[in-house]
Amino acid sequence: MAARKIGILGTGAYVPQRVLTNKDLEQMVKTNNDWILERTGIAERRIAAPDETNVTMAVIAARQALAAAGLAPEDLSYIILGTNTPTHYFPAGAIQIQEALGVNGVVAAFDVQAGCTGFNYALYVAERMVAPEGKYALVIGSDTNSRFTDWTDRSTCVLFGDGAGAAVVGPVAQGGILASFVTSSFNMKLYCETEFNAEVSPFVPPSKSTERHFLRMDGPEIFKFAVKAVKESIKRIVEMADIDREELDFLIIHQANNRILEAAARFAGVPLEKLYVNVHRYGNTSAASVPIALHEALSEGLIAPGDKVFLCSFGAGVTWGAALVEWS
Ligand code: ACO
Repeated sequence: MAARKIGILGTGAYVPQRVLTNKDLEQMVKTNNDWILERTGIAERRIAAPDETNVTMAVIAARQALAAAGLAPEDLSYIILGTNTPTHYFPAGAIQIQEALGVNGVVAAFDVQAGCTGFNYALYVAERMVAPEGKYALVIGSDTNSRFTDWTDRSTCVLFGDGAGAAVVGPVAQGGILASFVTSSFNMKLYCETEFNAEVSPFVPPSKSTERHFLRMDGPEIFKFAVKAVKESIKRIVEMADIDREELDFLIIHQANNRILEAAARFAGVPLEKLYVNVHRYGNTSAASVPIALHEALSEGLIAPGDKVFLCSFGAGVTWGAALVEWS
């Protein structure tokens, strides 16, 4: 029996109302609009309101994705959340989303922590979980990076923003996910330590550091890794799907930096019109980046039935991965 085809049935996205522009950042750190625009392509990013979390944003995106798929929360068997910015170490954000959606009967709800590759990881897992039984999964990427950012560090605070994107994954008659992979390799050039329990444990001496829970990054090193990871992903996916690079109809790549996106399009040999870009509006929204971009590209009518869409991300770990989806 041929393997069941799994595709994306509906998408949703949410970004907070509050806009933080490059001009605003000029008042906060020693930076300027020209530097940020030229080096990253970012003009503004969104910042979550005090009462917004990775879960509240995810729920809004999830409801849209379910509506677009024509499904109800009760139809879901799995909820998988890609996130790096949880409000709790446990329970998982996915279970809080399950509760907010009022779903009782899911088989499993859990989080995936894979840096900015979180959505691709969650999609990869979901595809393999729903395929044998033809069930439905909700796959989400949601991050409140603003809570993990050191707003005195100009080398990182200009880059990140908050948001959530979601997709409902399930059986399709035609097309669907033609190829997918995720992978990882240890690298401490991009990290965020926990506050650590040492301070409250009588068995461990108190820590002297007060600020180690902020995101830290060696930008140039991660930049080099990112360009290599995207190129390798393009090569690997076209080989897996047995197509030529030029057959990629649309590229949705993690929105970290415009220069990384353009390098990828050049390598793929596709015109820039086939590359979705919203990094200027949202900055790097980590695990939310790919599903927000996918949702916007679909909403703008840029993806047609039959298009082969390349979804690719890279991030802390380091991790990277991609999927090729034939839109149906
Ligand atoms: N404003 C003004 N000047 C700045 C700023 C700023 N915000 N930040 C750094 N600079 C200065 C540096 O101090 C340096 O000055 P110097 O030459 O006097 O020392 C100069 O600008 C150049 O700094 P670089 O870090 O070498 O700049 P680069 O061109 O490499 O750009 C950037 C930095 C934008 C961070 C780039 O390396 C990048 O995009 N990296 C990848 C980021 C990324 O993708 N991260 C996410 C991965 S996914 C995830 O999981 C989060």
